[in-house]
Order: sequence, then structure tokens, then C-alpha cells
Amino acid sequence: MPRKYVIGGNWKCNGTVAQVSDLVSTLNKAGDFPSNAEVVIAPTFLHVPMVKDAVRSDVNVSLQNCSVDSFGAYTGEIAPEMIADFGLKWVITGHSERRTGFGGQAGETSEIVAKKTKKAIEAGLTVIACVGESLDEREAGNTLKVVLEEHLAAIADALSQEQWAKVVVAYEPVWAIGTGKTASPEQAQDVHASIRSWLSDKVSPEVAEATRIIYGGSVKGSNAGTLADCADIDGFLVGGASLKPEFIDIINAVE
Ligand code: G3P
Repeated sequence: MPRKYVIGGNWKCNGTVAQVSDLVSTLNKAGDFPSNAEVVIAPTFLHVPMVKDAVRSDVNVSLQNCSVDSFGAYTGEIAPEMIADFGLKWVITGHSERRTGFGGQAGETSEIVAKKTKKAIEAGLTVIACVGESLDEREAGNTLKVVLEEHLAAIADALSQEQWAKVVVAYEPVWAIGTGKTASPEQAQDVHASIRSWLSDKVSPEVAEATRIIYGGSVKGSNAGTLADCADIDGFLVGGASLKPEFIDIINAVE
């Protein structure tokens, strides 16, 4: 069975109420999306309720992160069970900005990302689990070591084979995020193919065949079509361009 594309918009820490309303109305007015595309948008925690109420029913609303723990004394956190209880089905884990840390805060280790991924799946959510190397790691020839042996292996160690049905892997090379420097279709396809073959060896050929592996890093309306034509690229996780009407062109590029 052909894999359905996933087109995700990660809004990160962006948007006023007025801007979020505009974005939602742009999506709502966009006409039919390709039938082979699953569209997911991830506003901030604060904007999720308004987006969920207003956005068209064929657009899924996702959280950008979740807690590693369930309900309890975890000030400022949102538990995966809460996300499911709120009627949402998607969450992003392991974004490189969370792995690296920001504002002086420590980043998340691969083990934390794996734990969150597992907890979210157990709560009934589908997870967009992000992996990807930094520029230094790529230049040192360590891309596959980081992506496969560190990021993906930690997730695979935590999950049962069946739980992979609830995972979308997002390959986001850190050097391509927000830099305007997209990985070439060859660079992206190479890593995606390696991820698929790693999944085949370490999890199962069936999981490898079924898992959507999406690309993130300066995806634009102008390069989405060529990237989507690559055999192992099953969609995108889009940052900057998902805040613009251009996101519609990216969705339509997979038709
Ligand atoms: O999660 C999406 C992402 O990190 C890519 O961001 O702005 O390069 O599309 P951007």
C-alpha cells in the first residue's frame, strides 16, 4: 500500500491571536487538499484550543512537545494523556531545538525523547519523532551515526514493533533549519533511505515499508515537489513557510 504523505506545519513559538486566526482562515479557504496528504499543524500550547475549534476538519492539530510524565506535580508541563483527553491525536517529540536547549535551559537527551515518544503512543497519540545531525556532525562524517545509532536507536529501544504504527520519523538536519539552506533532494533521499534500511534491519521490513519518513529544513513551495518525488521522502515538517500562505503550495506539491 502506498504511504500517505504527512505535511506538518510546526509553528514553533510564533503567532499573535490575530495572526493565528489569519493562518487558520487561509487554510480553511484553501480548497481541497490532495487525497494522498495528511495535514498536521502544531501551534503553541496557548493557541491550540482556538485552532482546534476553528480549523477545517481535515487538518489535524498537534502539540509541539509533551511531558515525559503523566498527571502530577510537574509545573508548566502538558501530559500526553491530557492531549488525548482534549481530543487531539498528534504530538511532536525530539525537535532539535528541544534537544539542543535554548534560553540557557538544558536540552533533551535521546533517552528523554524516546521516553516521551513511548508515553505519547501509550496515551493513544501519533508522534512525529524528530532526528537529525548538526553541521559539525555532518562535516565530521557522523550523520548516520547520530541519526541512526543515537537518535533512532534510543526510540527503537523504547518501542515495541506494533508501536511503530504510531510513529512518523522527521529527518531534520539542523544545518537546514531556518537557514534557507535546504538539503538537496539527493542528500535528503540518502539519509531517508538509510533510515528505512536501518528500520528494516533493526525493527522489521514491514515497519520500514510502512513508516512515513518526512523531511524538515527550509522546505518551500518551490522545492517541495522535487523533494516529494524522492522515493523515501513521505512528506515534510515545515517551520517558517508554514506560517505563510506558501504552506498551501507545499501541501499541494505532493499531489
Ligand atoms: O520543525 C520544522 C523545522 O525545524 C524546519 O524549520 O523554518 O527550516 O522550515 P524551517
